[in-house]
Amino acid sequence: MATNGVLSKSRRSFLSLSAAASAAVALRIVTEPMLARARDHHPPAGSIMIDANENPLGPCTSAREAIVTITPQGGRYLDGLTEDLVNAIAQMEGVKPDYVPVHAGSTVPLHHTVCAFTSPQRSYVTADPGFEAGMFSATAMGARVVKVPLTKNYAHDVKAMLAAGTDAGLFYVCLPNNPTGTLTSHSDIEYLVENKPNGSIVLVDEAYIHFSDATSTVDLVKADKDVILLRTFSKLYGMAGIRCGVALGRPDLLEKMYTYGGGNFMPITALVAASASLKHTGLVAERKKINADIREGVFHWLDSNGYSFVRSQSNCFMLDTKRPAKEIIEAMAARNVFIGRAWPVWPTHVRITVGTKLEMEKFQMAFQEVMRSKPAHNAITPERGLWANLDGRRVRAI
Ligand SMILES: Cc1ncc(COP(=O)(O)O)c(C=O)c1O
Repeated sequence: MATNGVLSKSRRSFLSLSAAASAAVALRIVTEPMLARARDHHPPAGSIMIDANENPLGPCTSAREAIVTITPQGGRYLDGLTEDLVNAIAQMEGVKPDYVPVHAGSTVPLHHTVCAFTSPQRSYVTADPGFEAGMFSATAMGARVVKVPLTKNYAHDVKAMLAAGTDAGLFYVCLPNNPTGTLTSHSDIEYLVENKPNGSIVLVDEAYIHFSDATSTVDLVKADKDVILLRTFSKLYGMAGIRCGVALGRPDLLEKMYTYGGGNFMPITALVAASASLKHTGLVAERKKINADIREGVFHWLDSNGYSFVRSQSNCFMLDTKRPAKEIIEAMAARNVFIGRAWPVWPTHVRITVGTKLEMEKFQMAFQEVMRSKPAHNAITPERGLWANLDGRRVRAI
């Protein structure tokens, strides 16, 4: 589906699959759904959608009620609501309000931060496999993208990242990592921050932290280190379609990010839903447990049936199909079960989002059927490069 109805025809044809594709992503923000649905499918109603790390529970009841209650005032900007949310987060995290700009999702500050700190002279250093959005932004800035394999325990290999990024402008750490759902220790992140090249920053993306037992990096923000932290209401809080995210960092770092945009008004529905979610005592623990119980149930089933996977602390995990990932993704889609993508570095793994218990039972049934069917061919031919779906077209970035 086209995401921007105002694009002219000539601009559309510019977004082609050619070598000019990297120019096409310039200034574009690449989001999880663009990456998840790089094949532009139109799933039939009732499909199992476990491809984009969405939360099937949606917003909590008090967030839904807050949205309904504020709707009659939708004709107003109500900027005081932004202040209320900023103050609530600042108080919770123990930082000053000017350390906490809120945005319509965390993709926006992610993109702007990468734009601000990478350039043809300053590289972007990330884990492999790792969340791709920042790689698109860095590519658009003409920066070298350095992908460093995870350690054998699936943590970010901070020493290898430092060695490979002596010219780095930004080190991207995802905690827990997307797509593996694995953790990097706080001491390793601290080591990265202490030993990075001058002028660079560490961007810690805590989109999925609420699902895990990871130690947040917020203490390094409080200590005024060269760290920007991202959080989102899209995952545990179930507000991906409502759009609310936060960047936390020293105001002088955030100021650099603003060179590339920001400052727009937030939708008031997102603000009140986020504020209500934060006031819901016990919500994080409740949802963390729901996700963990379903995830561990799937892990138990996979173990019992002899399938290999990477143990995760998030709402997604990597499943090793031992067959070309594309073949499995397509066979599952033919059964209306839409699973996540593969990363070129792990050509037989697919990313699975943890859905509801019923959804995961349907996933298990379809997966068993697919794995018991004869493989289409034996050769594993990994897809190269990074792909996203821009305006209904499949575009390769690098
Ligand atoms: C690691 C990571 N960071 C950031 C985001 C962006 O989420 P949003 O813009 O919905 O806050 C996502 C989305 O899936 C993600 O996986």
